[in-house]
Amino acid sequence: LIASLELVDQTYIMVKPDGVQRGLVGEIISRFEKKGFKLTGLKLFQCSKELAEEHYKDLKGKSFFPKLIDYITSGPVVCMAWEGVGVVASARKLIGATDPLQAEPGTIRGDLAVQTGRNIVHGSDSPENGKREIGLWFNEAELCQWNPAQAPWLR
Ligand code: TYD
Repeated sequence: LIASLELVDQTYIMVKPDGVQRGLVGEIISRFEKKGFKLTGLKLFQCSKELAEEHYKDLKGKSFFPKLIDYITSGPVVCMAWEGVGVVASARKLIGATDPLQAEPGTIRGDLAVQTGRNIVHGSDSPENGKREIGLWFNEAELCQWNPAQAPWLR
């Protein structure tokens, strides 16, 4: 148990504005719930240009950067923090390739999206970025540390 605790990491998952507008929030949350990960933060949020630029700072200078910032700030997003063993890599698999036309059927983007510039969901690409992005999008008080195994309906 102690060894596996060391492998527990956190990822930042975000339903992008098109996912919210298309009514896919529940569907996307379900994929991560059903997989078995633990939700530790969740909110609907309209982000500023500054926050969007900080989130995607590694992509500054790319030709698509201005359009990406316009897209992410075009409406509310759903911000989520998820925790679990291998959650960063596993969430990337559940989400699928950046270009939805390349994403495998069965993945979120493969099943539900068409365009790279409208690919409905974000997932952190490393445990370090998972922590960084959760810190960027959430206040400490918005995150819940809880233990599903101690839930009363299991006893
Ligand atoms: P990236 O971090 O490369 O992909 P991912 O979201 O799969 O980790 O790019 C971030 C977002 O930027 C991507 O989800 C959609 C957008 N984007 C474009 O609009 N055009 C592009 O050519 C690329 C590579 C990304």
